[in-house]
Amino acid sequence: MTSVKWLVAAGICLWTSAVSGETLVERGEYLVEGPAGCGNCHTSPVPGSAPYAGWALVEPGFVAQASNITPGGRIADWSDAELARAIREGIRPDGSVIGPPMPIMLYRNLSDSDLNAIVAYIRTLEPVESEFVASEYPFPLPPAYGPPIDSVPDVPREVSVAYGEYLAGPVAHCTECHSLKDGMPDFAGNFGGGGHEWHGPWGISVAANITSHEDGLAGYTDDQIITMITQGIRPDGSKMNPPMGYHHYARMTEGDLKALVMYLRTIPPLPSDG
Ligand code: HEC
Ligand code: HEC
Repeated sequence: MTSVKWLVAAGICLWTSAVSGETLVERGEYLVEGPAGCGNCHTSPVPGSAPYAGWALVEPGFVAQASNITPGGRIADWSDAELARAIREGIRPDGSVIGPPMPIMLYRNLSDSDLNAIVAYIRTLEPVESEFVASEYPFPLPPAYGPPIDSVPDVPREVSVAYGEYLAGPVAHCTECHSLKDGMPDFAGNFGGGGHEWHGPWGISVAANITSHEDGLAGYTDDQIITMITQGIRPDGSKMNPPMGYHHYARMTEGDLKALVMYLRTIPPLPSDG
């Protein structure tokens, strides 16, 4: 009973300290640099590269041009509403659709206030000028990712399964990488089941099973899971590989990490079938 009370009190305390006096840009900075990890795709990993200035993202089966999203790119000409729609619905002002791997299906559930915070922060990035390079996909893109979105309410920011679910999905898209099957997210059949491979200079990394199954996270303590997420170090001391954005998650608050792990514990178990 005391431990439950303590957890609730700690949750409220972390929550209030996180929101007190926070500006829109500060919230946006936390999300973009932290759990949303936009830079994991939009910043080239080549040391010395300008943050958020874009690069060619090599994915299994295609190469996508992750755009320059600094105010020196073409988004400078877009209104806040247009930029917000591009991020949440994947539709640019000219009506064209943003392709993978930008996780639009999950961004569709970003709350209005978090979306506005992300837009506000993006506008403050160091401008880097570059020409837009279009991606070429070897498959057709959908005309849209769903009906137009009017409004998405906030999920209360607290140490809860619901907020952890919001972080793991719409914000950090953990469930996108960890649910891929044949290159596409399979939320119905492989939710959290892992198995997708990335080939890079580091070799091959395989998305882990992050369900509550014993092939997944069942055998780890909360602290071990948090160390893997934020430092990319497994309990045996071995280092984990890209493309998971460990350095972004390292900036997450203790409360947000607790909520995230609380949620991961609730993902229905799936065996790793290989
Ligand atoms: C998993 C990789 C990935 C992540 C994470 C990601 N993006 Fe993208 N984003 C892309 C790719 C790839 C494109 C270009 C797709 C295309 O050419 O159709 C893109 C396109 C965009 C565009 C359109 C720019 C233009 O000039 O057309 C905006 C705006 C954008 N992203 C913002 C964001 C923001 C903000 C975040 C974080 C909340 C984010 N992205 C996270 C991969 C990603
Ligand atoms: C861009 C894809 C990607 C994203 C996004 C991503 N992961 Fe991962 N994750 C991976 C890959 C790949 C591995 C395996 C890395 C390795 O073994 O070197 C991994 C490994 C893990 C592991 C280790 C499990 C084990 O048993 O070894 C955990 C835990 C984990 N991810 C949780 C998360 C959480 C939580 C998030 C969101 C905050 C997340 N991941 C976001 C790709 C991703």
